[in-house]
Amino acid sequence: MARSKGLSFALVVALVLSRAPLLVPRVALRASAEAKSGSGPTPEAWRDFRAQLIAREAQEEAQNRSRHVAPRNEELLRSQSEELWNEYMHGAWAHVAPVEVGGLLCRAPLPAQLTWLMRQGAESFWPQRVREALLKEIPVIEGRSRKEMFETWSKNTMFCYKLADRLTMEALHQLAERSQDIRSLTNADKELIQLYGDMESTWQSVCLVLSAVGDMATEAVTLNRPFARSLDTRLARLLLFGESQTGASVKEQTLLERSLQAFGEAAVYFGGPQGLNQPGVLVHGFSDIEGAEEIAPGTRIYRGGVEAAIEGIIDGRYAPLDFRWFIGRHENLTTQRAAWIPVACARPVALKQCLGLPKPLWHEVLELCGGEHAELSKVELQKRGDVKDDEPE
Ligand SMILES: *[C@@H]1O[C@H](CO)[C@@H](O)[C@H](O)[C@H]1NC(C)=O
Ligand SMILES: *[C@@H]1O[C@H](CO)[C@@H](O)[C@H](O)[C@H]1NC(C)=O
Repeated sequence: MARSKGLSFALVVALVLSRAPLLVPRVALRASAEAKSGSGPTPEAWRDFRAQLIAREAQEEAQNRSRHVAPRNEELLRSQSEELWNEYMHGAWAHVAPVEVGGLLCRAPLPAQLTWLMRQGAESFWPQRVREALLKEIPVIEGRSRKEMFETWSKNTMFCYKLADRLTMEALHQLAERSQDIRSLTNADKELIQLYGDMESTWQSVCLVLSAVGDMATEAVTLNRPFARSLDTRLARLLLFGESQTGASVKEQTLLERSLQAFGEAAVYFGGPQGLNQPGVLVHGFSDIEGAEEIAPGTRIYRGGVEAAIEGIIDGRYAPLDFRWFIGRHENLTTQRAAWIPVACARPVALKQCLGLPKPLWHEVLELCGGEHAELSKVELQKRGDVKDDEPE
């Protein structure tokens, strides 16, 4: 137990030192110096430090944050669509909201999912395991009840995230080292494999909700999985007609040729694992395209109108990158197990292309949300080797 305390303390110190130079309390610096010398913090320093850490988290949440979370993404958008860029600059926002058509669902990282499940009092193994680990971390303070302390500590998302991350990573590591025999897997192992597998398959996905019933997105497409940058005959056929036997009539043959002419450059995304044999979904921001339907009143996000869109591009009224094609979709995504974060956002956040974004869309959206979600974005960014968060805060 002493070892695990020391480890998490080092993590917390590293976290605080790396992110909040202005707010690091003096006691934290002293404690970290002690940690370096190997003797570990005194219990008093430890308690003070943690208390201040919790206070600091609250303070940070209240801070006014800049709207410009990804300036280099803004530049890229400007080069793609001046109009959307204008709209973005006049109000890019996102905040957590109920599941709704035109809103987003962002995949939660596993440690965050476990943290939220723990707070909800979920009774399955891993949320309970995080709860136990957190209880072990809480110091005994005279005059304060365990229950009250737990309430406070469980609100510290970063602290719980680190705990859950360490627990699951250790368990996965051990699992990999143990025998491969599937019969040796315990129920806890199976639950972890399921949780981890689900998260891996949708890692940092940001989905646009196209239809919803209650807290379930019955249809959604992933916005940030680019699939192709141009159409060939096979892909065009799939997008227009799906894997049905159509596409052979003269009219259909003409449409196919026109689509190839229009979409020499194209933005095609992998929308999700269902409906892969059905025609693609075309999403855009134009109300005047014949056959296009607004996905929900007031969203100003439209789907369909394929033929008119193709003719409009050939006529030079629209650019091919004003449109987003999706092959496949998600069905029945739910927020019930805390795997998906429901977010409402300004239209350009959903409509702009996700092609070589300097800051991945998932991070951009969570930072726009602020609060604990912005914190999650930061800690996840530190884990990614491929992105440098060199943008001004
Ligand atoms: C937050 O920032 C905006 C934009 O800079 C500013 O207009 C607003 O007054 C600020 N709010 C607070 C509470 O500081
Ligand atoms: C989603 O739910 C509908 C209605 O319950 C069902 O018909 C469909 O098969 C479900 N899709 C998936 C992928 O589970």
